[in-house]
Amino acid sequence: MKKRLLSGMRPTGPLHLGNYHGALANWVRLQDEYDCFFFVADWHALTSDYETPGGIRGFTDDILLDWLSAGLTPEKSTLFIQSRIKEHAELFLILSMITPVPWLERNPTYKDQIEQLNNKDLSTFGFLGYPVLQAADIIMYKPYGVPVGVDQAPHVEITREIARRFNYFYGPIFPEPEVILTETPKLLGTDRRKMSKSYGNAIFLSDSPEAVAAKVAGMVTDPQRMRKSDPGDPEICNVYDFHKLYSPPEVVQDVNRRCRSADIGCVQCKKLMAQHLNAFLDPIRERRLFYQERPRLVEEIISAGNDHARQTARQTMEDVRAAIKL
Ligand code: TRP
Ligand code: SF4
Repeated sequence: MKKRLLSGMRPTGPLHLGNYHGALANWVRLQDEYDCFFFVADWHALTSDYETPGGIRGFTDDILLDWLSAGLTPEKSTLFIQSRIKEHAELFLILSMITPVPWLERNPTYKDQIEQLNNKDLSTFGFLGYPVLQAADIIMYKPYGVPVGVDQAPHVEITREIARRFNYFYGPIFPEPEVILTETPKLLGTDRRKMSKSYGNAIFLSDSPEAVAAKVAGMVTDPQRMRKSDPGDPEICNVYDFHKLYSPPEVVQDVNRRCRSADIGCVQCKKLMAQHLNAFLDPIRERRLFYQERPRLVEEIISAGNDHARQTARQTMEDVRAAIKL
C-alpha cells in the first residue's frame, strides 16, 4: 500500500516557472511513489477574491490544464476541484466549532496577508477561517503528508493541532499529517523580484516560444555590466541562475567563463538561455496541445477525480458524524 499525499493550489492565474519549481515539479515526482490527491482550492480563492469571483472558474480550468501539461496524470494521481466535494464544507463547519480563534489570529500568514493585500478588505470571517478550511481539505483524506512550500508550513501545523484536538474530544479519527517541504531552486522573476503574476515578471508554462524569448531578452542581468566589453559577474546575474536550471552543465560552464572574460554579450547569452528554457518547456507544450485538442477527455479526468475524492470524503464524514454522535 502506497502512503497517501494531498496538496492543493488556489486558482489565481496560469502557472509560472516559480509555481512549477516551487510545487508542481515535486508533485510530478511524488506521484510515482505515493497515492496522490491534488486539488484546486477554488473556495480558498474566494476568501480574497469574493468581490470579483468571475475569474476563478477560468483559472481553475487553466490550472488543471497546466497540471496535466506538466505531467500529472490521472493514472497516478487523483485530480479534483474542492468546491465539487461538499463534504469539505461540512468538515470545515465542524472543525470551526473546536478551533480556538486565537490560533487563527496568531497565524503568521494571516497577519502578513492582511498587511500585504491592503487593497482588499480581508477582515472577514472566511478569511480568518482560511486555515480551518485548509485543515478540512487535508484531514478529510487522512494523508500521511502534505507537500508544500515553506510559506504553507504554518497552515499544516495548525492542521495538526486541529486534528489533535478533534481526536482528543471525539476519539482517534485523524492521523496528524506531516509537512513535506519542497526544496526550491533559486528562481526570480525577469526583474529579479520574486516571480509573481501580479508583478508582471513571470514566465508562464503556457507562454509560446516567442513570448519566452521576448521576456528573456528583457531580463535584468549583472547591473554593473554596461557594455559587452565589460567583464560580467554571472554569480549576481539572474540570467545565469536560469542557465543553471535549464542549460546543460557544459553550457553553464562556458557561459560563466565567457561572461567573466567579456567574450559573450548579454544579448547572445540570453538567446542561448531562451533556447534551453524553450527546450525544457517543449514537452509541456506538447502535452498541453494533446489535452487542448481533447476537452472531453479533460472533463472526464476531472469528473473521475471528483468522484474518487468524493467517495473517500463520504467515508470520512460517516466516521466523523458517528464520532460526534450526530
Ligand atoms: N493555502 C494553499 C496555497 O495558498 C492552498 C491550499 C488549500 C492547500 N488547501 C490546501 C494546500 C490543502 C495544501 C493542502 O497554496
Ligand atoms: Fe548575465 Fe550572461 Fe550577461 Fe553574463 S553574459 S551578465 S551571465 S546575461
